[in-house]
Amino acid sequence: MSRKLVGVVGAGNVGATVAQSIVNTDLCDVRVFDVVEGLPEGKSLDLREARNADYLDCSCFGTNNLKDLNGSEIIVITAGFPRQPGMTREDLLNKNADIIRNVVTTVKTFNPQPIIIMVTNPLDVMTYLALKISGFPKNRVIGMAGVLDSSRMAHFVAEKLNTSVKDVRAMVLGSHGDSMVAIPRFTTVSGIPITNLLGKEDVDWICQKTRDAGAEIVAYLKKGSAFYAPGSSVSVMVHSILKDEKRILPCSVFLNGEYKLNDVVIGVPVKLGSNGIEKIVEVALNNDELSALHKSAEIIKNNIKDLRL
Ligand code: LAC
Repeated sequence: MSRKLVGVVGAGNVGATVAQSIVNTDLCDVRVFDVVEGLPEGKSLDLREARNADYLDCSCFGTNNLKDLNGSEIIVITAGFPRQPGMTREDLLNKNADIIRNVVTTVKTFNPQPIIIMVTNPLDVMTYLALKISGFPKNRVIGMAGVLDSSRMAHFVAEKLNTSVKDVRAMVLGSHGDSMVAIPRFTTVSGIPITNLLGKEDVDWICQKTRDAGAEIVAYLKKGSAFYAPGSSVSVMVHSILKDEKRILPCSVFLNGEYKLNDVVIGVPVKLGSNGIEKIVEVALNNDELSALHKSAEIIKNNIKDLRL
């Protein structure tokens, strides 16, 4: 029986770390594409050579031909220019839209039709673009953002409470941008909402740190953005899809009336299984939370207009 295959577009820091995180689950083979000659082959060979030490069977191969990713159950798109210090995710819009158009035009021809996980920024807008260019059903084009932003929020909760990060479940909705919507009421430590454990000032600190987390790493690295937490977050999603785990995770998805929003891609909780997004979970948000989500959607919609689709 042959193993399942996941394709990764882009062999930069994010793409290579995504590949490593996925191979380390030992759940499927990975094939990595990049336009830079030698880069995907070199990084993939390095990962293959780590398998004995990591005690893994699954493998990784590199290619400069995007069509070699045909046959993948999931295509993870990381290709694009990374954020530079001082640059917003939206500044990247036009530069990265051209890349995504090209990649998705090829992925669209793949048979069987894969599920697309978008990682390229600005995340929500690029996911919308991939959905429109591919013409795939909306349950098969998913943006990776909420898992990353929630993992970051969980980190700050654990830091503030001096507790194990394992017991924290955080929820961050909205855009993967400055208007992201952290939901402290639905962020828990072993089931206890953090609003019962911390005062307003600490909760506000956690939400602000979460919003700034991507930029904080960009400021440290000076060139490029985060890759370890993004890689692990993609791997969580791939796992839930390939193993049909049906986990409830915040992901960036097309809304058609849910949360009173239409024709926008934005982060909300979804059920992730072998069919991609199997359900959009509509939690009862209070007025402040809903209005923050709507504000975030307005910003995304304005950026979508710039795509001139
Ligand atoms: C970040 C970039 C990848 O949040 O958007 O780190």
